[in-house]
Amino acid sequence: MKKQEIVSVDFGYGYTKAISSNGKRIIFPSVVGSGRERGLASFIKNKKATEEQRDLTEMHIKVDGKHFYVGEMAEKNSNDSSRIFDRERYNHEYTPILYHVAIQQIVEPDVEEVILLAGLPLNYYKSQVKPFKEKLLGKSLEIEWISGLPQQRKKVNIAQVEVFPQGYSAVLSTIQNSEGKFINSDLLEEGNQLAIIDIGFRTTDVCVVEMKGKGAFSPLIQYSATIDQGVVNLYEFIKKAYQEKTQGSDVSDSKIKRIIEKKYINYKGKKIDLSKEVEEARQSVTNGISDSIKMLWKDELDTIDQIYVIGGGSYEFRDYMQKNFDNRLKTIVDSQFANAISYYRMWKILTA
Ligand SMILES: Nc1ncnc2c1ncn2[C@@H]1O[C@H](COP(=O)(O)OP(=O)(O)OP(=O)(O)O)[C@@H](O)[C@H]1O
Ligand SMILES: [Mg+2]
Repeated sequence: MKKQEIVSVDFGYGYTKAISSNGKRIIFPSVVGSGRERGLASFIKNKKATEEQRDLTEMHIKVDGKHFYVGEMAEKNSNDSSRIFDRERYNHEYTPILYHVAIQQIVEPDVEEVILLAGLPLNYYKSQVKPFKEKLLGKSLEIEWISGLPQQRKKVNIAQVEVFPQGYSAVLSTIQNSEGKFINSDLLEEGNQLAIIDIGFRTTDVCVVEMKGKGAFSPLIQYSATIDQGVVNLYEFIKKAYQEKTQGSDVSDSKIKRIIEKKYINYKGKKIDLSKEVEEARQSVTNGISDSIKMLWKDELDTIDQIYVIGGGSYEFRDYMQKNFDNRLKTIVDSQFANAISYYRMWKILTA
């Protein structure tokens, strides 16, 4: 029998998060760009060819004779790198690359096939689940690793694909612990409502579920939606502020990320302070997201029993959002991995 692993991938607009049945987890920006032959790379990095050589910041691959950079490497070194913002992302030529890169990075070296667990937004679940599965099922992608992974050529087949609704599945990461035991029995009481606000790079997925007893739950569709706001709006604000201070100079996403962290940037040898702008931008995006959620929930908001904020954006915005939600917002550890973890838990429940 072929050696198999189960890999759960949350392919976000911003970051690809993956966890495996081997216990590993990885995260890298969902970015692909064209690459080129680099004579210098291996000259500078003279590491031994060990497992340690797995380097998510240096992913340079060749597929069908074409060079690509993936993740941080693409953000920093490709001039045509892009995130896939299409509605039907499964159709994009970079989508299989990102899934297979995640799979090949996370599995043990001798694994030949995987069961892939993945997700789709609740809104598109019904319409996209079939074509999405067909795109990936039974396929493998031969990747030649120039750097980022010691193995030269690698191919892992996707033997099975299971797709779960994003956000809705994430409920499991809030009500179960890592052993699959329910944490808070009060929360599970029949009729209780639990809300998930998943703030991502480009979107905020909102989902409210009603408990059905014994840990089962079903979504309340009228209070669930995908809102087109996220960390990317913060990026847009900062970009504008930067351009105002520099007579319209352009700035890359990775530099914006740095400005948000450091609140300043060196420009032509001078330090430009952007702390006020970062603060204002955070406040403004927070209010935008909060307002959209409040419009969706209206008075129902007051009687929802628990509200969890998850996703990478929760680190950025949760504290700012608290006052808009009567300080009721809770979060979980590993909140950026909540979807990936939940697909895995869904799978465990289905196959138990
Ligand atoms: N420790 C952190 N502190 C602050 N912000 C963080 C942290 N970790 C992640 N983020 C932010 O989270 C964002 C990405 O979150 P996430 O991975 O949940 O998005 P995504 O799932 O890719 O996007 P989407 O859900 O829209 O498809 C990043 O843009 C980053 O700014
Ligand atoms: Mg997400």
